[in-house]
Amino acid sequence: MGKILVTGGSGFIGSNFILYARSQEMAEIINLDKLTYASNPKSLEQLKNDTGYIFQQGDIGNSTLVLSLLRQHQPQYVVNFAAESHVDRSIFSPQEFIQTNVVGTFQLLEAVRAFYQELLPDQKENFRFLHISTDEVYGSLQAGEPAFSENTPYAPNSPYAASKASSDHLVRAYHHTYGLPTLTINCSNNYGPRQFPEKLIPLMIFNAINQKPLPIYGSGENIRDWLYVEDHCRAISLVLLKGKVGDTYNIGGGNQPTNLELVTQICTILDEVLPRSNFSYQSLITFVKDRPGHDYRYCVNFSKIKQTLGWEPTETLDSGLRKTIRWYLDNLEWLRQCKSQNYDDWVVKNYGDTMGKGESH
Ligand code: NAD
Ligand code: DAU
Repeated sequence: MGKILVTGGSGFIGSNFILYARSQEMAEIINLDKLTYASNPKSLEQLKNDTGYIFQQGDIGNSTLVLSLLRQHQPQYVVNFAAESHVDRSIFSPQEFIQTNVVGTFQLLEAVRAFYQELLPDQKENFRFLHISTDEVYGSLQAGEPAFSENTPYAPNSPYAASKASSDHLVRAYHHTYGLPTLTINCSNNYGPRQFPEKLIPLMIFNAINQKPLPIYGSGENIRDWLYVEDHCRAISLVLLKGKVGDTYNIGGGNQPTNLELVTQICTILDEVLPRSNFSYQSLITFVKDRPGHDYRYCVNFSKIKQTLGWEPTETLDSGLRKTIRWYLDNLEWLRQCKSQNYDDWVVKNYGDTMGKGESH
């Protein structure tokens, strides 16, 4: 493969994708990342002597910077991970979500369009822009409703989901109007190493290690479709190489526990691998105020990518959770680096005094 310009590569999925791509010697990577609170410099530390990896701090909304990077490095692919990604934060402060996810994606597309126009015909033939989006654009399912397919109408419910839906529409429009060779992935909840501990799974592991409450919104009956991040990275490279230009691909993990079942499973694994003599982690489970507009259920039908590109998830929820928990226990320093004033302020803002100020373990 030629070079890939990755945006948002210092966040959770982006860093896993870059490490996956470099370990497979798939392509040289240029990573453009603004380095918001959600990024962690330690995630890509192991690439510091890798000559096939280049980092540039910057904003996807800076089209001058993006165009100059494109002209300088001449990548064959652009993979756009950059986004504000946390639903709860979008409820408190939607502005940043509109700025990066909508305006930023627009500016990025403008730069890519200008670059694409300068390419020779055979370069144009091979160029791809892959946009990483979410299943949340489809809204919420009731019990028994069929899983989201690529044809499910968009019905986003949170400012985050609405901003991602807008970005998907822009990507679609740039394909139809300007002939930009785009691809879009709509993916379910990822989990695995290097995820910021504001999202459910790493938050529960982080709090459990610190013997703090495990806050479950509402009754814990909401359902997500959990996908191990490395399975997603494999899907991304397949779609990039073999996806049909202009198409969208739904990706899911085939695991749909309730939140309470999931957190209980994490506690059971922790009881096994990090036992405490005086209590079980389950005793830390605490029910807290529900998320406003909380989507009840997500479930993704991934039969299109399975049938056309031969992809399916390889990790079960149990094997994926065990790998994830092991990674966090082996990388306590990484977790420590996520802690900041911003993190403490966020915890107080979102959870009130349920959890108190997050302490370092
Ligand atoms: P993340 O929040 O962990 O990382 C986002 C990264 O983007 C960070 O490194 C951040 O610094 C960077 N960034 C933010 N604004 C930027 C800007 N304006 N310019 C350049 N960089 C910027 O997110 P994630 O969980 O890795 O998600 C990656 C993408 O996948 C997002 O687009 C998200 O919507 C999508 N997605 C995530 C999930 C999931 O479960 N995490 C599921 C489906 C889709
Ligand atoms: O579906 C894909 C989406 O998954 C991605 O597009 C988003 O970027 C990603 O953040 C994720 O969104 P969710 O809102 O589903 O993920 P989160 O980890 O925030 O929450 C998962 C479920 O757990 C959800 O039902 C809310 C619940 N929850 C979450 C937190 C943080 C709790 O019960 N307690 C919590 O403290």
